[in-house]
Amino acid sequence: MVAAVRVHKFGGPEVLTYEDVPVPAPGPGQIRVKQYACGVNFTDVYFRIGMYPAPGGLPFILGNEAAGEVVDVGQGVSEFKPGDRVAYVAGPGCYAAERVVNADRAIKLPDGISYEQAAAMMLKGLTVQYLLRRTFKVEKGMTVLIQAAAGGIGLIFCQWAKHLGANVIGTVGSKEKAALAHANGCHHTILYREEDFVARVKEITGGKLCDVVYDSIGKDTFPAALDCIRPLGMFVSFGSASGQIQAFNINLLQTKGSLFATRPTLNTYAAKRQDLLAMADDLFAVVASGAVKIPINQKYKLSDAQKAHRDLESRATTGSSILLP
Ligand SMILES: NC(=O)c1ccc[n+]([C@@H]2O[C@H](COP(=O)([O-])OP(=O)(O)OC[C@H]3O[C@@H](n4cnc5c(N)ncnc54)[C@H](OP(=O)(O)O)[C@@H]3O)[C@@H](O)[C@H]2O)c1
Repeated sequence: MVAAVRVHKFGGPEVLTYEDVPVPAPGPGQIRVKQYACGVNFTDVYFRIGMYPAPGGLPFILGNEAAGEVVDVGQGVSEFKPGDRVAYVAGPGCYAAERVVNADRAIKLPDGISYEQAAAMMLKGLTVQYLLRRTFKVEKGMTVLIQAAAGGIGLIFCQWAKHLGANVIGTVGSKEKAALAHANGCHHTILYREEDFVARVKEITGGKLCDVVYDSIGKDTFPAALDCIRPLGMFVSFGSASGQIQAFNINLLQTKGSLFATRPTLNTYAAKRQDLLAMADDLFAVVASGAVKIPINQKYKLSDAQKAHRDLESRATTGSSILLP
């Protein structure tokens, strides 16, 4: 039996239960991993409240990313052996001291990357990778708007976008978060709880607006976010921290300047193993070069998962949060 955090019914952070669970032997194509750190993500909230369905139904172990050491391998696994250091995005099931995971989702960790760093950056960093390099290819001189720029995804986003030569505008919930976003490569910050973020984007860009808006807020920033995009630019809706965007008339994209809009997810972009490996290589390269640092600003014991969720949802966190089994 190993310690884990399970969801028996959907609801607030209080539904998270810390308990002992059995871990099966790895089946064909699977590995068993002793986990040293588990990432905390807003995506976990969506699973906890039932907005994203857990494939096996209730109860389920929460958590979508973790890092640890391989302790056993199933039939047919040749890429990994006991002792290998690995990390993965594989959810749900990551809030546990040990778990079984499909080997085709695991990535070997380079020596320079610790378990804690890996658990703090696989889901977030791979997401930033595909959003900046594939969903919309950001190039030098482009202007991007990143919502929630001081969050887990946000701080990685700002650094990477700046590294690519973009002019980075970020929205943040407080002055402290603005300072942090600045320190992580955000050229202009907007306090979107106090300021009209559309008016500020117009002012900052001299009316030229942004080539792309990366929006993870959803309900509260839509449709205003469309007014921050130049004609033929792209609206990337990749999260719903304030609630989901409701159905809208597609003609809105016409009237706002023939805009493109997409609602991408990491699962699609990393579905093929060769894509996952290439994305991880790109992420490890920017981290190894020092261009992107992974700020782990909150660490909790696995048994404190309820507190980790309360902090995340009350907008009290910055950068990445991890749980330590
Ligand atoms: N599509 C994908 O592939 C993908 C993958 C991973 C994550 N995501 C999305 O990326 C986003 C960021 O994830 P994260 O784990 O790094 O979280 P995070 O950004 O660290 O936390 C969410 C932030 O959203 C802001 N926010 C605005 N309105 C909020 C509200 N009503 N309630 C709570 N927070 C609110 C807060 O920042 P301020 O105080 O600065 O406003 C808060 O800190 C999430 O929306 C997540 O779903 C998408």
